[in-house]
Formats: sequence, structure tokens, C-alpha cells
Amino acid sequence: MTGAGEVREQVTREQATKDPRKLRGDAPLLDGWLRVTEQAEAGRLTPMSVPGHKQRTDLTGAVTAGDAPLYGGLDTIKHADHLLADGERRAARLWGADWCRFSVAGSTHGNQALALAAGQPGQPIVVTRALHRSLLLGLVLAGLDPVWVLPEVDPATGLPGPVPVAAVEAALAAHPDACAVFLGDPSYVGTIGDLAGHAAAAHQAGVPLLVDAAWAAHLGFHPDLPPHALAAGADGMVTSAHKALPAYTQGALVLARTGQARTGQAGGGQAGGGLLDADRLNRAFEATHTTSPAGAIMASIDAARALLARDGAELCGRLLRVVAQAKQQLRAEPGLDVLDGPGVEPTKLVVLLAGTGAHGNRVEADLIAAGMPVEMADRDTVVPIVTLADDEDTMTRFTTTLLEAIRRHRGEPRRPLPAAAWLITPEPAIPPREAFFLPHITLAATAAVGRVSAELVAPYPPGVPVLAPGEVITSAALDALRATLADGGRIAYAADPSLATFQVVAKK
Ligand SMILES: Cc1ncc(COP(=O)(O)O)c(C=O)c1O
Repeated sequence: MTGAGEVREQVTREQATKDPRKLRGDAPLLDGWLRVTEQAEAGRLTPMSVPGHKQRTDLTGAVTAGDAPLYGGLDTIKHADHLLADGERRAARLWGADWCRFSVAGSTHGNQALALAAGQPGQPIVVTRALHRSLLLGLVLAGLDPVWVLPEVDPATGLPGPVPVAAVEAALAAHPDACAVFLGDPSYVGTIGDLAGHAAAAHQAGVPLLVDAAWAAHLGFHPDLPPHALAAGADGMVTSAHKALPAYTQGALVLARTGQARTGQAGGGQAGGGLLDADRLNRAFEATHTTSPAGAIMASIDAARALLARDGAELCGRLLRVVAQAKQQLRAEPGLDVLDGPGVEPTKLVVLLAGTGAHGNRVEADLIAAGMPVEMADRDTVVPIVTLADDEDTMTRFTTTLLEAIRRHRGEPRRPLPAAAWLITPEPAIPPREAFFLPHITLAATAAVGRVSAELVAPYPPGVPVLAPGEVITSAALDALRATLADGGRIAYAADPSLATFQVVAKK
């Protein structure tokens, strides 16, 4: 083949690897990213705008390859909003929403945006105490006063189940001025609650149901999967595209049914209950989002949405199949079990080790050494994340390696112990926002017991605060945190992660 033919073939090959499933026709942001990166690679771009790497890889190297801003990269600064609105409208339509925004700052930002949109400073909000720390900080930002509802913990597994609808109903009855109900569903371990029941309870009280569905961007896209939160009746939901879908790290979506048909971000979804305001949602979203969103992240959310729309049922079908096979194979091992049943999201794989005597941290270390890092491991549990990107091959390799590791570390079977995050009985003293801003002092751990925490302390994962600002530091919380640390867990966000000291609110 001669020069021109070779070049044409190379271009076609590169396009095939850059968009192997040919999604760009239905993904305007992906199309923008492909155009700008093709232009840069062809040497036809001399940007006099940010980012400072100017598409060169000879300074900081390949680490910036493929980076292009949304504004001035995927499209001109003056026109990129139209591209973004088009991508978001398509996502709104897919999820049956009428408002959608793409975030480059994860469900962390999404939770904070919904909290900022939910009510007025000082207003109560009914919230699960198994919340992710990002939502707790959202309550601090918004000045909302949490009325905690607790999930049930299954004594057989030590793992959290759903928050009962009756608990939400009681909280709403006791706080008729509450502005919303904010739950996390599915839970970190994949347990699912009665979202339709929660939606009915919230709507009966005239408030929206908001759901942190960080792990559940794939739900609703196969008949054997539970519906997603909006389809179950929620008014707003947050989900991480980078968790369950093949999107760039940090990519997330915030979706809502406002009932307000709008141009701009509006899609053609089913009508919502009118309990959320689209303008307020936009203000809240923009308040804490960067003004320089990474185009590759935005484009990957758009691409993941286009993939889900066209191939979602097929890919979710494969996911359901490989997880079911893995569960069957793991259960055949003596003493080993997996979390399963009607109350569990069927693509979630939570490995229960107690009956094998193996310690999850040792199993995890072997998996890391084999190049198979998992999302979470503690003494009794290993949580790998299985997604649309997995297939028979990756699952078989994983289960084989996991079983070998468990066999290497077998010991005396034991009763599972609930992790610190699931044991919390909060003792709220003052609202989180007040505690966050009050002067604080540092005390030795034992002297801090009985005082009001100024800080948020969470074993991570799962990132559920054991101590929240404004809560009394109880000896039970201190013991649970110390046990986590002693067992090799990571204590995050504490000023002193060794737990020798705590920051408490100073007495007046
Ligand atoms: C339940 C829950 N919500 C929100 C988040 C934050 O998500 P992101 O990492 O996308 O910011 C996490 C992170 O693990 C989570 O588990």
C-alpha cells in the first residue's frame, strides 16, 4: 500500500479504537471530544487558551493525553453550553427525567447539589444515617438539620438492609416542617429498599424523595434489574457514571423530575410531582461545580449514556449472568457465602468470609498482589465491583484467584461482626453546620467521650461517618473506630487518624 492509502487506513484504525461501538452519532459531547483530539493529534491545533499543557505531551508527558476542556475544547467557549444541554437532554430522556446535569465531581458534588436545592437553612430533612460523607457535608453547606432514620442491620451477616418506610413515615410525622427525604439506595452492600413506599410517604407529606444511587447507574436497564430511583417514584437522584458504567473517574449524573417543562436542560420525560424547582436545582448544581469541566469526563458520561440506551439490555444481561455464575461458584466453597435474595441488587457481589475463617484484609492483599484490587475488604466481607465491562473471562479469573486466596488464609469459622459504620446509634447534640463552624479544641480520646464532635470521622470505604459534626462522641463510637483501626481499616477525614485525639466543639 502506498502513502495516502496507509494514512487513510491508520486514521480509520484509530477512529475504530477511539469509538469502537460507534456511539458518536448519538453522543454530541463524545463527538466533540473525538473532533478536538483528532485535530490535536493531526497537529492542527495551536490553542491560545487553557489548559496549560496546550496538547503537548513532551513536558509533563502522556498524563495529559486526551485532556480537552468542555469550554473551548469540545466546542467554542460561546457554544459549548448547547452541546452540553444536548447531551444532558438525551440523558434526561433515558432516565425519564425532565432535568439532568453532568458532573465532573462525582456523586459527591451531586449529593451536595441536591442538598443545596432541598430546603432553607435551619429546616429539618429526613436522612438515612448510613449516608455517604459527601451528603453529610452537603447538609453542612445547606444548613439543613438532619432527622436521622436508621437502616436495619441483619444480625446474620452484620450488614445493613434498607431503611424501613415506617421509620420515614414516623420521622415525617414528627417533623411536619421537613423539606425532603434523602435516602441512599442501593446501600453500599447492594441492599435495596421500598423506594415506591418511601416516595408515597414523602409525597403524602408534600416533600420530594431524593436518592443517592451512586452505585446504581445501571438499574432499570434490564427486566431482571430493579427499577432506578426515578422510575420507582423518587423526585431526584444522583448516580456515579464512573462506578457502574464505563465512564471516566469522577463522572456523575444528577437527575430530577420537576414537572416543569423547560427549554435548555429539559428533556421529554414523564411528568414529575412539581416538588423540585429546576432553576433552584441549576443554581445549587452550579454553586459547587468547577467552571472548567474536563471534556473527556463529560464526553465519557455522554458515551456511557449512549451505550446504555442502545446496548444496555444486552450488557446488563451479561452482567447479571456472570454475577449469578460467580455467586454459584463461590457458594460451592465450604463456609463461603454471598449476599443474595430479593432485597439485594442482583449484580452486586458481596463475599461473606466469616464461615471460612479467612480475614478479608489478607485475602485483599493477595488480590492486590495478583493485580485484582477490590473496592472494599474488612474482616468478614470482600466487595469487588463487577460492571458492564466484565465478562466470563474476567469473572472466572477473579473467582479463581479469590478462592485460592481464601483457601490460603482459612481459619476457624467465626460469627460476623457488623462494621463500625453499621453500628451507629447517633446522639445528635447540635446541627452539623453549627458544629462545623464553632471554635474547637483537641482532646485526648478518652477525655473527648461525652463531648460534641467538631469533625467527621469515617472508616473508608464505605465512607459512612461514624462520627458527624454535632454528635456526641460516645464510648461505643470510639470503641468501634478503634476496633476498625486495629483490624487494619483506614480511618478517613479525622484530624488525627491514629484516633489518639479528637476535635471537639469548645465550650462557651
Ligand atoms: C453511597 C455513596 N454516595 C456517594 C459517593 C461519592 O461518589 P463519588 O466518588 O462519585 O464522588 C460514594 C462513594 O463511594 C458512595 O458510596
